[in-house]
Amino acid sequence: MAQPFFIQPPTATNRSSALKIDLLTLFPGMVRGFLEESILGRAARAGILELRVHNLRDWAGGKHQVTDDRPFGGGAGMVLKPEPVFAAFEDLRGAETSAIYLAPDGEPLKTPLVKELAREKHLLLLSGHYEGVDQRVRDCLIDREISIGDYVLTNGTLAAAVLVDAVARHIPGVLGEEKSLTQDSYEGNVLSFPQYTRPAEFRGMKVPDVLLSGDHGAIERWRQEMRARRTREIRPDLHKERTNDERDC
Ligand SMILES: C[S@@+](CC[C@H](N)C(=O)[O-])C[C@H]1O[C@@H](n2cnc3c(N)ncnc32)[C@H](O)[C@@H]1O
Repeated sequence: MAQPFFIQPPTATNRSSALKIDLLTLFPGMVRGFLEESILGRAARAGILELRVHNLRDWAGGKHQVTDDRPFGGGAGMVLKPEPVFAAFEDLRGAETSAIYLAPDGEPLKTPLVKELAREKHLLLLSGHYEGVDQRVRDCLIDREISIGDYVLTNGTLAAAVLVDAVARHIPGVLGEEKSLTQDSYEGNVLSFPQYTRPAEFRGMKVPDVLLSGDHGAIERWRQEMRARRTREIRPDLHKERTNDERDC
């Protein structure tokens, strides 16, 4: 069996990582660079995260390591066979594993769910391909089915990468400044406020005076007002979900 690729070698230094993630996919190469770069790569190298990507084909038997077959009942496309997935889960699943199948018909990936996943110890992510995976896999092996949006991708590898990225941001130590999380969109059902940096005037466009005033109270009030206004205008659905207390903020 080929070795999975590790974002960092599984040495003693990272055995205590806050979260271990195993991703099972037919296309490990699709996420390699993504997981190695920037904040995620740094967190993995620091031992905060342990990321392993496996090729499902490594658990497929036979000379041709076939992973898919035609759907019973006919119809378009191919379906991932149960045997390699069951074999992989037998090797990768542990006592603290939460097994997730990335699926367009799963529960939507939203901030409360992201935070819940960030508190897990081990995520085992299964990426589907073709028409999806044999239903017996979904019934027997999967704890949660999660969708990253109301559209259909060619396979679940990028969806898994999106989930990993979103979850990783909520693990202490991954972001340099944890405070930035509380200012993010979707914290408290509101969108974020506009950000500016130097220069204070660029091509005739000026930064709002309040941000240059040094008055921290006024800046905070302006930001809250902007968050509320943008939410009302851009996401009326979120605005409606806000409680009266939240709307006062
Ligand atoms: C072409 S899709 C299969 C779509 C399936 N026939 C359906 O209509 O629900 C192939 C794989 O991509 C992944 N996928 C596609 N869209 C996704 C989404 N929005 N969220 C999460 N995973 C998705 C799933 O793993 C799925 O098994």
